[in-house]
Amino acid sequence: MSTATEDKHSAALDAAESGATQHVTFRLRIRRFNPEQAAEPVWVDYELSMDPKEKLLDALHKVKWEIDGTLTFRRSCAHGICGSDAMRINGKNRLACKTLIKDVLGKPKNGVYKPITVEPIKGLTVLKDLVVDMDPFFQAFRDVMPFLVAKGNEPTRERKQSIEDRARFDDTTKCILCAACTSSCPVFWNDGQYFGPAAIVNAHRFIFDSRDDAGEQRLEILNEKDGVWRCRTTFNCTDACPRGIQVTQAIQEVKRALITRRI
Ligand code: SF4
Ligand code: FES
Repeated sequence: MSTATEDKHSAALDAAESGATQHVTFRLRIRRFNPEQAAEPVWVDYELSMDPKEKLLDALHKVKWEIDGTLTFRRSCAHGICGSDAMRINGKNRLACKTLIKDVLGKPKNGVYKPITVEPIKGLTVLKDLVVDMDPFFQAFRDVMPFLVAKGNEPTRERKQSIEDRARFDDTTKCILCAACTSSCPVFWNDGQYFGPAAIVNAHRFIFDSRDDAGEQRLEILNEKDGVWRCRTTFNCTDACPRGIQVTQAIQEVKRALITRRI
């Protein structure tokens, strides 16, 4: 027999499914860090009452705009495009703007929900609250030359490509550089020198582009000690990618190209 609390919970979720608005009360437990005030981060709980169909990003905005304006996090588009709000939500890398509260709320026990935890992505230095230093991440991205390199004279017409050739790197064009993959990688946690999945994904995007002439150069860069051979195929990166990119497969394809020397 269900309890009154469970009935209320299920009513809230039914309302969420049907499109009607019904608020639930829950706690957002955020790992706060201000290097000007303390050497160590602290967990702080915020009680919120919100429609569970809203996004986790809306919950963060509610805290920032209505409770504590010092809460610091990055976001821009709020629609899964800019890649700026990757964070660990309930221990898993996600985009706050692509995460609905109802999907991370769980079920209440005795009328109380477990807090939703929010913390910065791992492996990069935390600057403040949920903001990490992205410089090493973008340096690795720059190092793989993420742009088309075409030799010879400038063409007078467009560079044509067959549908099959375009399909070879279609998946890796979807990357939004959110760092969810790289910051979920245990190799990267232990050694930030590793290029990381995102840089390899973006190298893949050009290595397998039939119009590009720098594939060999990129392969050599990734053949170095901090390159693809550090990957331990744990699949964390693929699980973390909010764009559904087959990250591990892309890394495997780059490894295979290095072994066969065939692009
Ligand atoms: S591959 Fe996916 S998880 Fe990694 S940076 Fe690109 S979009 Fe983000
Ligand atoms: S705010 Fe742009 S991806 Fe989430």
